[in-house]
Amino acid sequence: MPDSMQNILDRVAAVRNEFDKQIQHVSSPQEVEELRIAFMSRKGKVLALFPLIGSVAADEKPRIGAELNALKENIQNTLDTLKQQLDDDHRHDTFFDFTLPGKKPPRGGLHPLLQVMDEIKTIFIGMGFRVEEGMEIETDYYNFEALNIPPHHPSRDMHDTFYLGGEYLLRTHTSPVQIHTMENQQPPIRMIAPGRCFRKDTPDATHSPMFHQVEGLVVDRGVSFADLKGIVQAFAQKMLGEGVRVRFRPSFFPFTEPSAEYDFSCIFCRGKGCRVCKQTGWLEISGAGMVDPAVFGFVNIDPEIYSGYAFGMGVERIAMLLLGVHDIRIFYDNDVRFLEQF
Ligand code: DAH
Repeated sequence: MPDSMQNILDRVAAVRNEFDKQIQHVSSPQEVEELRIAFMSRKGKVLALFPLIGSVAADEKPRIGAELNALKENIQNTLDTLKQQLDDDHRHDTFFDFTLPGKKPPRGGLHPLLQVMDEIKTIFIGMGFRVEEGMEIETDYYNFEALNIPPHHPSRDMHDTFYLGGEYLLRTHTSPVQIHTMENQQPPIRMIAPGRCFRKDTPDATHSPMFHQVEGLVVDRGVSFADLKGIVQAFAQKMLGEGVRVRFRPSFFPFTEPSAEYDFSCIFCRGKGCRVCKQTGWLEISGAGMVDPAVFGFVNIDPEIYSGYAFGMGVERIAMLLLGVHDIRIFYDNDVRFLEQF
């Protein structure tokens, strides 16, 4: 029994109405696609109508066919137009403004050790010191002999280094710059020498086979130990704060006489005693003393006319205190997560 023509036309109209209603709520290209699938895909509502052609009388088939094709074409066109429109809108939303400033490339910075070294330099320059460049490769003469450390002196034990063949070695401290400076300049001399040093040390939390020191040397008429204490105290206060105290303990270095080691009062507990200063209230910084007349002998400065003081300091040690770093090795790991904090 053939379907009635009217019945089929009603169903076509129903699909059209449904489509017209649903398309009102479409607001994105994705929703257009969902609607296309619902109506136009192989199992969609429009194509589902086509088999009905077979159920009407032969002379009614062309009319139904035309109706269905018109519906299909109409829905397809509507979807295409809407999709185009929404795509354009979307493109407009993400319009690229070429006049905006570009993305900033990540900016490098100075390594924390260099920053600390720069601060040390600035303080000493402010107190009238010149900055001398030293060399990382030295000879036995400058690293040891001229500093009054003869070949079999026991203090060489603490300065085992990397020997490069011949007379060359990697310097174990910045003290050889004292000798170069006194060879090349007449007093008055007032210099610091920052730089890299090397020792055959096994790395641990406080040791590294490569590290940095800043050497200081003052040679003039009438220079005394009191001047040394004054300069070190002034430096400590500028570097770590007004409240910092300095103490000198008797010690021995072959190139100074008398010699001392100096400590700063602990900046964390203000001298009361804490974990960082191992309950002592003091933080060891380095050595210092009056230039030994024997050293003046190597550089032809007359100890009857001139006197001088010298001091050293470990840059890593100061940086670790200042920056709250507990393992020296992290300075050399090249881990940007650490480095970019400073
Ligand atoms: N050069 C010594 C070291 O590395 C530190 C030092 C001690 C430097 C006494 C000095 C000084 O200038 O007078 O262990």
